[in-house]
Amino acid sequence: MAYRRADLVVLGIGVMIGAGIFSLAGRQAATMAGPGVILSFMIAGITSLLVAFCVAELSSAMPASGSAYTFTYVIFGEVWAWVVGWALVMELLLAAATVARAWSLYAAQMLTDFGVRLPDVVAGMVGRHTGFDLFTLFILVILTIVVALGARVGLRALWIIVIAKLLAVGAVIVVGALHFDRRNLAAIPVPPVPAEKAEEALHSPLLGIVFGQTGAFGWFGIFAASAVITFAYIGFDVVATAAEEAEDAPRSIPQGIIRALVITTVIYIAVALVMVGMTPYDRIDTDAPLADAFRDAGEGFMVHVINIGAVLGLTTVVLVLLVGLTRVLFSMARDGLIPRSLSKINRSYHSPTRATLVIGFLAILLAEFVDVFTLEPLVVIGALFVFISVAGGVIRMRQTMPNLPRGFRTPLSPGVPIASIAACLWLMVNLQLITWVYFIIWMAFGVLVYLVYGRRNSVLAGMAQSAPEAPAPSAGPPGPPEGPGGPGTGSRGRHRR
Ligand code: ALA
Repeated sequence: MAYRRADLVVLGIGVMIGAGIFSLAGRQAATMAGPGVILSFMIAGITSLLVAFCVAELSSAMPASGSAYTFTYVIFGEVWAWVVGWALVMELLLAAATVARAWSLYAAQMLTDFGVRLPDVVAGMVGRHTGFDLFTLFILVILTIVVALGARVGLRALWIIVIAKLLAVGAVIVVGALHFDRRNLAAIPVPPVPAEKAEEALHSPLLGIVFGQTGAFGWFGIFAASAVITFAYIGFDVVATAAEEAEDAPRSIPQGIIRALVITTVIYIAVALVMVGMTPYDRIDTDAPLADAFRDAGEGFMVHVINIGAVLGLTTVVLVLLVGLTRVLFSMARDGLIPRSLSKINRSYHSPTRATLVIGFLAILLAEFVDVFTLEPLVVIGALFVFISVAGGVIRMRQTMPNLPRGFRTPLSPGVPIASIAACLWLMVNLQLITWVYFIIWMAFGVLVYLVYGRRNSVLAGMAQSAPEAPAPSAGPPGPPEGPGGPGTGSRGRHRR
């Protein structure tokens, strides 16, 4: 089975539209940006589009399952590739754990709204923000098994669920528009929160600290929200991990990424507009913003539509994130930077089953034992870091490999890649100080892991030992002959062809 062009668009929409719009958007409108959250979605969307051009070019030149990790390996070498891979794993793993948790909240709410009463012993263990949660465990176990069995993304199921999700979102936009009140948009930007009510510095955006505005709202709030809201766009880059399983990848992957992103951006702006148009920002429910707005508007039926749409939608997000993550882990293992047994393809299921089980296990640990909702911005900082490396990669590859065939070329290069880097840095400095602290700790730990394990066990280290005149990383050692998509898909092996 191979992904066709339209499948890749569906894959992109499947992984992008999820907790970001169903939960996060309302929280950001209520606490950070007010109705200016519409602008936040535009800023994050434009940044993502700039980056998407860069991802599209690199994936068209190197259609390999490792995505940004593999691009970085080929362009900048092993050490930087490890750093980017480490950030990518954190981004995708934490995103999967967070969205699984959000899935549980929506699934529990859906049952309650349908009047289903769970036995008391179960009811206390589902739909919880923190602590052990049964529904979170359930969804992660099921989806890990699906991915491990190599059903890929059960294409037909993916199409059906994504269409259902789009119908739900479409209904939100159309019915919501009937209750739209322009006066709710008058306060853009909402006046800044006074200093005495502001957050402590550790929980304030870096830029706010520098300029002495540590509270939310005002323009600082709009920018801070756009940084957090980048979460909603995460996933367009995951489409590139399907490269070894796609038809005519050099052309279909770039088109899939860009089309999915444009469709998603338009949908997000429309939903955000409806959400803040229906409810004054200070009355938005931070847990279930959309459902609550429709309940207040007397549209009880829409509450069910939203619940079902969210449960289905979040399912595909977690599923595609897990698939993408196994492909990245597989590629890192193939290069010997993590135990090579993780790159083993199961003969019966034609899938990196071991890597999948490890990913599933880690996602469950994270989701069950860590307060993932407070770590959500870490997903964003990890993604932005990876995006900067990808944009830098486009500039460098134009210099070092100008004649490498590309199915897609970033327009106005190096203008667009430079603008991508600037936009990502801008969003990064709008993230909280605590997010930076956690990120630096995580990356420092990654460097330690590389020094202790990767550096000694990598394919490159092995080649250097056996042949001192081994080729430089950018030429790349040949990867083992088999990838998840079939024979001959070694990440750097493909690049060399
Ligand atoms: N973009 C995905 C979501 O919003 C991760 O759920």
